[in-house]
Amino acid sequence: MLKTEHKIFCSDARDMNHLDDQSIDLVITSPPYPMVEMWDEQFGSTDSRVKDYLEAADCHRAFETMHGVLDQVWKELHRVMRDGAFACINIGDAVRTLNKRFQLYPNHARVLNKFTELGFDALPLILWRKQTNAPNKFMGSGMLPAGAYVTLEHEYILIFRKGTKREFKTRTQKKSRMESSYFWEERNTWFSDLWDFKGIKQNTKNDSLRKRSAAYPFILPFRLINMYSLSGDTVLDPFIGTGTTTLAALAAGRNSVGYELDSSLLQLLSENLEQDISFLRKANCDRIKNHLEFINRCEEGNKELKHRNSFFGFPVMTLQEKDMKLSFIEKVAEIEKGIFQASYYDDAYIKCIGPENLTADSFDPERFIQNALSFDSE
Ligand SMILES: C[S@@+](CC[C@H](N)C(=O)[O-])C[C@H]1O[C@@H](n2cnc3c(N)ncnc32)[C@H](O)[C@@H]1O
Repeated sequence: MLKTEHKIFCSDARDMNHLDDQSIDLVITSPPYPMVEMWDEQFGSTDSRVKDYLEAADCHRAFETMHGVLDQVWKELHRVMRDGAFACINIGDAVRTLNKRFQLYPNHARVLNKFTELGFDALPLILWRKQTNAPNKFMGSGMLPAGAYVTLEHEYILIFRKGTKREFKTRTQKKSRMESSYFWEERNTWFSDLWDFKGIKQNTKNDSLRKRSAAYPFILPFRLINMYSLSGDTVLDPFIGTGTTTLAALAAGRNSVGYELDSSLLQLLSENLEQDISFLRKANCDRIKNHLEFINRCEEGNKELKHRNSFFGFPVMTLQEKDMKLSFIEKVAEIEKGIFQASYYDDAYIKCIGPENLTADSFDPERFIQNALSFDSE
């Protein structure tokens, strides 16, 4: 039976001494954004020069000093990541007026440069479009030319690899890779360079807190985890915040480690997990539901899906999806402060839908989803 472990350290990620060299398979994170006002105080308490530079409106030094704090975390990542591991960094640029000069602070470019300087290989990146309809979204001189500014409505997901391509040599590694595959139609959306989550429901709770703490949507780390890691791998988020990466790792059957300076956020994660974990199962049910809708569209278009997934029994587009499995979480327990352990139903699908329902024709998605959501340990 699959088991995973999730650790959160309430300490500064500039020193991740709890982690061995080459122990992490994937990094997913979103740091505090330099030059965005909500993070001034935190950067100021980490490096006291930040406050002085901001007061003196010395924008260049303020920007550099804030990035200097992040640089130390990026350096630690290089130490703890295995060769072949990916790092996905969600970051937005900042706009700000200092000394009466309105300017763009290109955080993504600064982070990208630092990663390549540290020896990471930069890979094609994702633009995350965060369109807003706010009435005050246009800044500057209104309808009068030569003084208005383009609205920033996107953030970046920078993608890096440490060292050369990861290898899958042993039989176990190859099997795990096949079981961790994703659907053909997911590949077509996930590996596009423009993401827009409009219309995709959050799988997590506490929406207002998420906004206040600059949390990213659950779907973001959940997708990236499925794209760049295998079941049983360890995912690190050095700026864990409300624990969205932890939740995504739990749902996807990966281990995780997080670092966070603000200990009150950890309490919230514990409460969330204690109350209800059905949203973690729902993340996988949604993937199945979407796949079944895809099958329907193919059937309507008379497009034949030639292969069959051996775990669920439904048709799939390619042979690579044949052995794909999904991990359905059974329970999570906080075994020590900041350490959670999760166990998963290996054969949840058989228990949920019954062996008699294992053919694609009789597969009842609604029942499967209902059963999986309300599934309790016997
Ligand atoms: C943008 S938020 C991350 C939000 C997170 N992705 C989520 O979904 O909740 C950045 C977080 O990094 C934390 N932080 C800032 N500097 C840190 C450091 N040096 N070490 C650890 N955590 C830090 C902040 O307290 C904040 O919670």
